[in-house]
Amino acid sequence: EDEENWVSENNIIWHEGEVTYEDRCRNIGQQGLVVWFTGLSGSGKSTIAVEVEKELIKQGKVLYRLDGDNIRYGLNSDLGFIKEDRDENIRRITEVATLFKDAGLITLASFISPFKSMRDFAKKKIGEENFIEIYVKANIEVCVKRDPKGLYEKAKQGEIENFTGISSPYEEPEDPDVVIDTEELTVAESVEKVLKLVDSLQITV
Ligand code: PPS
Repeated sequence: EDEENWVSENNIIWHEGEVTYEDRCRNIGQQGLVVWFTGLSGSGKSTIAVEVEKELIKQGKVLYRLDGDNIRYGLNSDLGFIKEDRDENIRRITEVATLFKDAGLITLASFISPFKSMRDFAKKKIGEENFIEIYVKANIEVCVKRDPKGLYEKAKQGEIENFTGISSPYEEPEDPDVVIDTEELTVAESVEKVLKLVDSLQITV
């Protein structure tokens, strides 16, 4: 109903093509999938996604990696870190990931994505069967200690506002498809866990 109202207000009517999702998947030999990594800054999201990307490329998969820092250079360079901006960040990324999925790609998305409502939005929009939620877990104390970019130190000094885990919340996933505890697992073990799950979905067509 929302969609109908929006259409009548904006005079925009969806134009259906003649090539289907199945046609595109057949050509590239796989189905679309979004692997969504959520976790604190410094939890290890990007490190794991980069390694998973290397392995999937070796397997001949067609994929693209979307990463918080990089997307904020371009598409989302107008957004900051208050809740409204973070929600808009995830909304736009969800739209991009939805298009990539529709193109038949595997998308590796690593964003703090601290709010459950937006992670649920992504899952619903992309489609549950094409979506894996991975919680990259490490305690805030451990992340502060790792502080790979020196941002926690800056946040503690009050030089960065709304820093996740310090002055902005992180809502832990309640029912993720996988939890990767980066305090317990090596990078190689973490990558193995993700690859096993992707493999079990049998997305090759
Ligand atoms: S979010 O919450 O999903 O919109 O964040 P995301 O797009 O993933 O961006 C997180 C990266 O931005 C840097 N950064 C901050 N993070 C959290 N809070 C504040 N205030 C902040 N300011 C800058 C930081 O490098 C994050 O990268 P990661 O890879 O998570 O460490």
